[in-house]
Amino acid sequence: MDSQSNSPHVLIFPFPVQGHVSCMLKLAELLCLSGLSVTFLNSDIIHRRLLRYTDVVSRFSRYPGFRFETISDGLPPDHPRSGNRVVDIFDSIKMVTKPMFREMLLPGGCLNSGKRPPVSSIIADGIMCFTIDVAKDLGIPIFLFRTVSASCFWAFYCIPKLIESGDLPIKEDDEMDRLLIGVTGMEEYLRLRDLPSFCRASDLSDRAFQVVTTETQETYRANGLILNTFEDLEESALAQIRNHIPNLYSIGPLHANLKSRLEAKLTSPPRSSNSLWEEDRTCMTWLDKQAQKSVIYVSFGSMTLLSRNELTELWYGLVNSRKNFLWVVRPNSVAGDGQNIPPELLEGTMERGYMVRWAPQEEVLAHPAVGGFLTHSGWNSTLESIVAAVPMVCWPYYADQQVNSRLVGEVWKLGFDMKDICDRIVVEKVIKDLMDTKRDELMRPVDRMMKMARRSVAKDGTSHGNLNRLIEDIKTSKK
Ligand code: UDX
Repeated sequence: MDSQSNSPHVLIFPFPVQGHVSCMLKLAELLCLSGLSVTFLNSDIIHRRLLRYTDVVSRFSRYPGFRFETISDGLPPDHPRSGNRVVDIFDSIKMVTKPMFREMLLPGGCLNSGKRPPVSSIIADGIMCFTIDVAKDLGIPIFLFRTVSASCFWAFYCIPKLIESGDLPIKEDDEMDRLLIGVTGMEEYLRLRDLPSFCRASDLSDRAFQVVTTETQETYRANGLILNTFEDLEESALAQIRNHIPNLYSIGPLHANLKSRLEAKLTSPPRSSNSLWEEDRTCMTWLDKQAQKSVIYVSFGSMTLLSRNELTELWYGLVNSRKNFLWVVRPNSVAGDGQNIPPELLEGTMERGYMVRWAPQEEVLAHPAVGGFLTHSGWNSTLESIVAAVPMVCWPYYADQQVNSRLVGEVWKLGFDMKDICDRIVVEKVIKDLMDTKRDELMRPVDRMMKMARRSVAKDGTSHGNLNRLIEDIKTSKK
């Protein structure tokens, strides 16, 4: 161990939900590829699900410097940890997990037991700023990773200004299409309607609103901020953030960055999955039988909860568009009686649709049969769609998704924003526009952005360079 005692050892600590864990695992693999020792700290529950549904352990076993460690998220095992109860994780992790986290890093703790070099830097999820206190106390450099877009981060950052100007809280008679001047750089297109969903609470007492606002303001205390985006996509928001947090690393799209580096090292990189549900691969066989660009892929990510009425309106819109569709209906994602999809919908789907509980999404989007994506505009899904050059219909559910969908529809012109509308007639029209009527005009920006995304992770691309800079900074950062 002595010969290694000065070698860099990074601890990665994600917020324990699908969209955060999966992209931080990609970051972990990128750091392993550069020869760094990495420990990935999972909540017990997340780790059990990863073991159950993926091959992560054997996949990472090819990196000798990699380890998983686990920690409690402080909640009882039967807590739902989804929908509007996700916010409970923030509170319990801060109260219960924080002291355990500190303990692990102290001499004799499992991360400082003498068996491996002590942790020399931390990359923590940026919505868990308590990690900054622990790191500073122990003299360990800390970088924060945020899973949201730069534009959304910037909108979060401007919330105190919006409160000061009286734009927030939103009042009953407010015109939701009013443009906001308080989010510098986004004044020409960001409306009240496009602010993160929790800004809609009438009295600012919403717990998620408070947590996200406070955590975002704390970011400057870390040694740097890492974002899963690329310069050509979000140049203006990145420039605004840099005025406040100069040490910024834009290293996305992470999944494309990882693919590019794996392909440079291995002749045929293995298929990888970081899913917390079992992937149903039968949909790939179904896709193989469909015509090129004929299928609309429908998925609302890992946390969306649909009402019965929303499910029905979306379904009729899809069926009436007469397009074939592949729809992910995640377990427990429909309110009411759990996983039961009304029988008439299931029956009607047989004719031109296919439903699964969870799909290998990156592969689905890359399949030649997929021509469109009806999405909730989660940031990972948006980036995956951009890289695969698949145009989007956005139906944002909550948090950052309202901002992302506005950018997709109004700024980047990569699809249509169906925010706040769930009506079968509108769904049918917008899907026909996406797949037929307006397809040619959409595909120009879609192809252009796909090329820019891929260029950013290529050898002389900005995200490639920024990742190298991050790796160097980790290697030279001293305890
Ligand atoms: C939320 C936020 O909205 C998002 O912006 C944030 O960055 C993470 O948390 P989530 O609902 O998890 O998002 O959506 P998204 O960010 O799109 O991530 C979902 C991930 O699950 C994607 O990587 C997607 O490929 C994967 N997925 C989804 C599957 O692998 N299979 C599926 O069937 C559905």
